[in-house]
Amino acid sequence: MADRGIVAVFGSMNMDLSVACERMPRAGETVGGSGFITNAGGKGANQAVAAARMGARTCMIGAVGRDTFGDALVAGLQDAGVGVEFVALRDDVETGTATIIRCEGDNRIVLSPGANHALAGADVACALRRLVAHELDGDTSEIAPAAGSVFIAQGECDLAATAEALVCARELGFYTVFNPAPACELPAEVWPAVDLVCPNETECQVLTGILPTDDVSCVAALNALLDKGAGAAVITLGGAGSVTLGDGGELLRMPALSSTVVDTTAAGDTFIGALAAARLGGLPLFECMAAGARASAVTVSRLGAQQSIPTRAEVEHWFG
Ligand code: ADP
Ligand code: NA
Repeated sequence: MADRGIVAVFGSMNMDLSVACERMPRAGETVGGSGFITNAGGKGANQAVAAARMGARTCMIGAVGRDTFGDALVAGLQDAGVGVEFVALRDDVETGTATIIRCEGDNRIVLSPGANHALAGADVACALRRLVAHELDGDTSEIAPAAGSVFIAQGECDLAATAEALVCARELGFYTVFNPAPACELPAEVWPAVDLVCPNETECQVLTGILPTDDVSCVAALNALLDKGAGAAVITLGGAGSVTLGDGGELLRMPALSSTVVDTTAAGDTFIGALAAARLGGLPLFECMAAGARASAVTVSRLGAQQSIPTRAEVEHWFG
């Protein structure tokens, strides 16, 4: 199945614009800055890069403005081996940006979603149908079920479009992964279209009212996620790893792998992209979590977002 399946990601593409200053400017004030950097990001794009670097055939469904940031984001995906046939270049809206002011560990961020809210559910559904038709069947006239393929969505695009896309992907036969980040609720009737919900601990608390810490609260939180109608749940716990429930409802813990932590940006995105790539290879969920833990342990050891996401060869070099 690995040679026929594909990881399709519907999600955000952002350019991060980040500058450091000695103190935060007050209203009307100009202060000097330094260390200006631009970083390709967006949870959707990061997850697609992670899946592609793990060796999965990966396709991004998203939108950018027809501007220099959009061009750079598309080129970055292509460099990582992500298919960009379904990334729309929009004339009517600008590329999504995050403008970050860094000041002695205190960040202020303005997120401008721009083109990330441009796609409607019907656009994503159309892309998924075309993807299934050409990529999995070789016959554009007929849609074959996307058996063995994985679809990923998060919370940074239009929520109604995301909900519609999850339902469509499920109908087409994708294994659907929903990463509710930033924390967001789905309409009740959409939850059964989610095969795997994967929040971090704070997103889990917003969704369920339970902060997963010890075994008891982890089990309660995972069950609360399943009660919404999702087929399976994984909660990531930063340096404490990730948790899921086994077939008998018992708690299964995947520890984080030891790493020299430099920058945890994109840890969760790497985990999800690598998990999806492993799932494409047909591995059971707990082994997919192990693949996520290995790849994200490498990501946290490096500075930056997209550029810190490792290739499969790098992960194998680290962990054998
Ligand atoms: P998010 O970035 O969405 O908040 P988490 O912080 O929960 O996601 O991290 C996702 C995964 O990344 C964890 O389950 C773990 O495997 C890995 N990870 C995160 N922080 C560390 C760390 N300090 N050391 C090793 N692995 C880490
Ligand atoms: Na990093």
